[in-house]
Amino acid sequence: AFVTLRQLLDHAAEQGYGVPAFNINNMEQLRAIMEAAAKTSSPVIIQASRGARAYAGDLMLTAMVQAAVATWPEIPVCLHLDHGDRPATCLSAIQHGFTSVMMDGSLREDGKTPADYDYNLAVTAKVAEMAHGVGVSVEGELGCLGSLESGQGEKEDGHGAEGVLSRDQLLTDPAQAQDFVTRTGVDALAVAIGTSHGAYKFTRAPTGDTLAMEVVRAIHARLPNTHLVMHGSSSVPQELQDVFNEFGGQMAQTWGVPVAEIQEGIRHGVRKINIDTDCRIAMAGQFRRVATEKPGEFDPRNFMKPAMAALTALCARRFEEFGTAGQA
Ligand code: G3H
Ligand code: 13P
Ligand code: ZN
Repeated sequence: AFVTLRQLLDHAAEQGYGVPAFNINNMEQLRAIMEAAAKTSSPVIIQASRGARAYAGDLMLTAMVQAAVATWPEIPVCLHLDHGDRPATCLSAIQHGFTSVMMDGSLREDGKTPADYDYNLAVTAKVAEMAHGVGVSVEGELGCLGSLESGQGEKEDGHGAEGVLSRDQLLTDPAQAQDFVTRTGVDALAVAIGTSHGAYKFTRAPTGDTLAMEVVRAIHARLPNTHLVMHGSSSVPQELQDVFNEFGGQMAQTWGVPVAEIQEGIRHGVRKINIDTDCRIAMAGQFRRVATEKPGEFDPRNFMKPAMAALTALCARRFEEFGTAGQA
């Protein structure tokens, strides 16, 4: 069934589990994720970025998700807009049937410059008022994603701020989070705790304090009824890097967010965990393997099938690790 983010995450909070939000751009990713959700009886958040909407087209994208809901009627599915950049982007997603939207007002409309607080408040409150009027949930973001290790706000994928930021700038302020949620009415809040998007998060194996888990605990203590969201939560597993590199890929050694840190977050109010990079590497590794092992292969299905199986395996593992399995 189609559900809102609020419905999904209220249940997750009651039962104390987290829900992965996987990005999709095409039918193969959607099918692979749904297979994992069905196999493990998990509710799921399917999210699409502006890039995904441009790639697949809104009609194609939403019709596919409707078909998935019809195919697996027992699985609660939320269709969420990832990183809406302005109110109009959120509104057009709602018009097309998304049940949840993210208004990311942490950056200006250029997607690079950190926005001032009043701008973020204003655009997010506006989206929340409109979305709630038609029963759609809203995620906001407060703080600038970026690595505490390097002091770099992220920028390589167009999501981030330029230059070196102070630790303060890289972490969401708990008092400000309380004010932000109270004044905007968002259902879920993305927090900056030292994660960043993409494959290159950390240059060495993270230790227990690589992420600012104390910030999660402080925000959750002030906002026990707000669902917290961790962006940039790919773990970039070594075995996926190895497959990718074994078949001619060139990915420099890198480390992602340890699953144990995510599980610690789930114990303190994190309910939505955004994962895209791991899914990409899982599929791309299989494309490389097939291209290498079967140089005569030219049927796209024979590239897609192993890639989908790798994605299904990854998603099923995350459903188990986050406690989502069995909750559908
Ligand atoms: O946060 C970004 C997601 O990984 C989606 O990436 O904008 O390239 O579709 P994208
Ligand atoms: P990753 O790049 O770590 O997968 O993060 C995805 C994300 O936050 C999408 O919004
Ligand atoms: Zn994100």
